[in-house]
Amino acid sequence: MAAKPKLTAEEKDRIGRMKWWHEAKFGMFIHWGLYSVIGRHEWAMEIEAIPDAEYRLLAQRFKPKPNAARDWAKLAKRAGMKYMVMTTKHHEGFCLFHTKTTDYCAPKQACGRDLVAEYVQAARAEGLRVGFYYSLMDWHHPDGAKCLTDEEARKRFVQYIHTQVRELMTNYGKVDILWYDVSWPLSAEGWESRRMNRMVRRLQPDIIINNRSKVPEDFSTPEQRIVAESGGRAWEACMTMNDSWGYHKSDRNWKTPDQIIRNLITCAGGGGNYLLNIGPKPDGSIPAPSVAILNAVGEWMDRYGATICTSEPCAVTRSRCAQFTRAGKTLYVHVHSWPGEGWGIGGLKCKVKAARIYSKGPSLKFEQDRLRLRFLNLPANAPYRRIPVLALECSAAPAQDMAMVRTQRKRGKV
Ligand code: GLC
Repeated sequence: MAAKPKLTAEEKDRIGRMKWWHEAKFGMFIHWGLYSVIGRHEWAMEIEAIPDAEYRLLAQRFKPKPNAARDWAKLAKRAGMKYMVMTTKHHEGFCLFHTKTTDYCAPKQACGRDLVAEYVQAARAEGLRVGFYYSLMDWHHPDGAKCLTDEEARKRFVQYIHTQVRELMTNYGKVDILWYDVSWPLSAEGWESRRMNRMVRRLQPDIIINNRSKVPEDFSTPEQRIVAESGGRAWEACMTMNDSWGYHKSDRNWKTPDQIIRNLITCAGGGGNYLLNIGPKPDGSIPAPSVAILNAVGEWMDRYGATICTSEPCAVTRSRCAQFTRAGKTLYVHVHSWPGEGWGIGGLKCKVKAARIYSKGPSLKFEQDRLRLRFLNLPANAPYRRIPVLALECSAAPAQDMAMVRTQRKRGKV
């Protein structure tokens, strides 16, 4: 057997820094800015070609109620989330934080307060980790597009961006995550991303940085889809609850609580995190459907959260009735479509020693041969109205081999 390659000091450091994040599994994304006043998606400025001179007047109308973030943090906690990531500046260029670089920021406009400071306080009060989303792309700054073709503009713009990132990393105490977004129109060299991230790490030694400054850094960010990264690289799927990140007055395409829970299970089973978005209204209140969905998810998490948070990547994936997570040798079977009698799991490669309805439910009878595990006394009706969970204690870390089922069938053994 080939010896495992030794970890570099940097890799060891990363494993230590990211432990809490891997255990957290579930976070709240918050998109909030001037676009919330328009209420037609956070890309309205570009999609509707609104000139900056008109758009920036929104800063006179954006006057959220004080400490709206407290309700977000309470709701996040109730939903079983462990961290939050808020837009400190989205593509529109309006900063929710106090900055010396521009007057186009909440404290110097009608709002008159540092909304990032309120957010950080609110998250900490609920014991949640704090993440800052920060858009590199900037539709407001005069050099934001010019920087591609004009070196002087690039230098000015990069100085502006680096200064803001420095302010964010300096003025709010410990920051747990830096979540860059859209790096158009520059390359990593153009943004001087490596230098910027070195500065970030000097100021925030334990911070976790995403991959959107065009440098891989700590984790990948599949968007609106769940795709596991290969090679053990960390990943976090970010997703909306309807079809808009920013508040959208008339988007009613809400996912159901079951869909959200199933997405969370898929992420946890695949070794990833799930960052689920809310788009607060301009006053900071959370749209009622988002509150209802997250309350329902929270009820489920109260019962079953441990099957998510303790989960390691799970090599059992195939069933039409259930999804899987794993903790050590325990396989958690999340039954989204309750099958009742006769149901089983194919291709399990470990011996099941005991099965029960999670967490304190009755133990289940089953029979198992090389190819098939079959439950003998599953109740006819689901023991919980929303995705109940079974726990199987296995002789080894559970895995599944569907190819084996095929081969045995070809040989007439099934
Ligand atoms: C994007 C979008 C954006 C959203 C984000 C979240 O790239 O431009 O509006 O903030 O992804 O992942």
